[in-house]
Amino acid sequence: MVNTRIYTLKDLDDLKVQEDIKISLQHGKNVVFPTETVYGIGANVLSQEGVNNIYKIKGRPSDNPLIMHLASSNVLDEYVYIKQDYVNKLIKSFWPGPLTLVFDKKTTVPNYFTGGLDTVGVRIPGSDIARKIIQIANVPICAPSANISGRPSGTLFKHVLEDFNHKVDILIDGGKSEVGLESTVLDVTKEIPVILRPGMITYDMISDVVGKVYISNEINENQIPKAPGMKYKHYAPKGKLMIVEGDPCKVVSYINKKIDFHKSNNQSVGVIITRDYKHLIHCDCIYEIGSADNEIEIASNIFASLREMDSKNIEYIYSFSFNQGIYSEAIMNRLLKAANNNIIKV
Ligand code: TXA
Ligand code: MG
Repeated sequence: MVNTRIYTLKDLDDLKVQEDIKISLQHGKNVVFPTETVYGIGANVLSQEGVNNIYKIKGRPSDNPLIMHLASSNVLDEYVYIKQDYVNKLIKSFWPGPLTLVFDKKTTVPNYFTGGLDTVGVRIPGSDIARKIIQIANVPICAPSANISGRPSGTLFKHVLEDFNHKVDILIDGGKSEVGLESTVLDVTKEIPVILRPGMITYDMISDVVGKVYISNEINENQIPKAPGMKYKHYAPKGKLMIVEGDPCKVVSYINKKIDFHKSNNQSVGVIITRDYKHLIHCDCIYEIGSADNEIEIASNIFASLREMDSKNIEYIYSFSFNQGIYSEAIMNRLLKAANNNIIKV
């Protein structure tokens, strides 16, 4: 069992705390810290011990590469080749922020870090705290989402405690993650960039900057390396999650019938629903995810809603579908994975 130190954002001004973070990261220990997307479990990219620990602690498949986080794009050149002219436009438009760019890597990026790939994903987080941690460490930091592999990503400090207390040296409490979904992953090694994982930097936003963009599943799978992480079971709550899609009144009536059915079978049931329709559902366990017209709020609560169902040991979970609006690609990508593509159209 590890003696975990927990720090608040205020503690980060204390030089002793900064020293603890720096020494821990530089010497192959792990630090969980907030980013604007989700919490990340950090290690020094250049420490094989630190990187290996992450795979061990998360239970992460070893062929799933990690993202390198930098405090500024000034040092990007040390680690990657920038081959496409459009990359600088992307960097200007979206960094720091929730966009990971996949580049051809230089030999300064160790092979153990990229799961054997010749490419590396890099991101400059939008969160001041995340960049401060990287600056304190003074080394590039890898930070996969802070969750045990397969579980919903951590977006609240209580999620971090659930998964990593007594397993990791330092946990930093930064409150709720603002964005709530992991970064968009974009392959920029080719003439036309390819979205490997959708996120809050959307297809339209990228295309406005660079013109033509591909989405990975539109292309012959043999031609491009998809984000290896996308093939694994992801975000799954313990209970069975079903997405119900259609006219909201029909969705409400379908879910109410299901609630009666499960109750009569002594099964626990929970509902993930927008504020607008909450009052129409008769259920003891309701998670209010946000207003129907506020996708940003919905995105920020998706993972927390799934974790909340887990914490109440809910066996059957019904969720509204959030398939309209500019962020629906990112939101539904996570929700469909969590539901194992179980979608009911009414
Ligand atoms: O927002 C985020 O990106 C968060 C925060 C903590 O920064 N991090 C995160 O890391 O989501 P992770 O490890 O959970 O997800 C990284 C994704 C995986 O799907 C992985 O397969 C893909 O990026 N990836 C990483 N390097 C890649 C590469 N060289 N080529 C293709 N995909 C890559
Ligand atoms: Mg992840």
